[in-house]
Amino acid sequence: MGKVQGYSGLQIAVHWITAILVVFNYFYSEGMGSALDQRLGETPEHAVEINPQIHVWVGVAVLALVVLRLVLRMKRGAPAAPGPEWLAMAALWGHRLLYALLLLAPVLGGLTWFGGIGSLGDVHALVANGLLIVAGGHAVMALFHQYVLKDHLLLRMMRAD
Ligand code: HEM
Ligand code: HEM
Repeated sequence: MGKVQGYSGLQIAVHWITAILVVFNYFYSEGMGSALDQRLGETPEHAVEINPQIHVWVGVAVLALVVLRLVLRMKRGAPAAPGPEWLAMAALWGHRLLYALLLLAPVLGGLTWFGGIGSLGDVHALVANGLLIVAGGHAVMALFHQYVLKDHLLLRMMRAD
């Protein structure tokens, strides 16, 4: 994976669009439980004050973008992580974890909503929380590289190469 020096313009665009959509969906989610109850023919605990189609389709878009991204990554590759071996390994596994959560959160949401498996709703919400926490740690590490280690890492997700 260390053959390329940086990310392509498309890889960079998909990274930032995905980040925005994930954060948006995380905050535009309150009330999905009640919308799900209604969809499953149960009486919702609270009035449905969300447009569930927005949460659902933004989430589906995240899934499509992650699949596109993994295909791009397999075809083009990704630059090797800078720094000592242990830090590069942490980045590798951190990114793998992010990809796993990025796939799992919308798939579980889809099984809940389209598959009608109401019991998976809580697992979906839990995984979505995990995704936001790991992505937060990831953002802190990106800033640490840029401003403490001063290895210009952030620029790799800003300037196409
Ligand atoms: C929900 C939010 C986010 C998600 C899901 C996410 C996900 C990812 C993933 C999966 C990668 C690995 C790319 C690859 O090599 O295939 C990556 C790389 C990267 N991300 Fe994020 N990211 C998010 C937010 C951010 C934020 C807020 C920043 C900056 C503060 C950031 C900066 C970077 C940088 C600099 C890289 C390239 C790392 C390298 O070159 O090794 N990301 N991101
Ligand atoms: C990465 C994308 C997604 C994120 C970050 C996300 C985030 C969340 C969060 C935080 C909740 C909890 C809301 C609350 O209890 O107040 C939730 C609930 C829910 N989401 Fe998502 N979601 C995503 C994708 C999807 C997709 C693709 C679907 C359906 C196709 C979906 C369907 C649902 C449903 C049905 C619930 C209610 C679950 C329940 O309370 O039992 N989500 N989502």
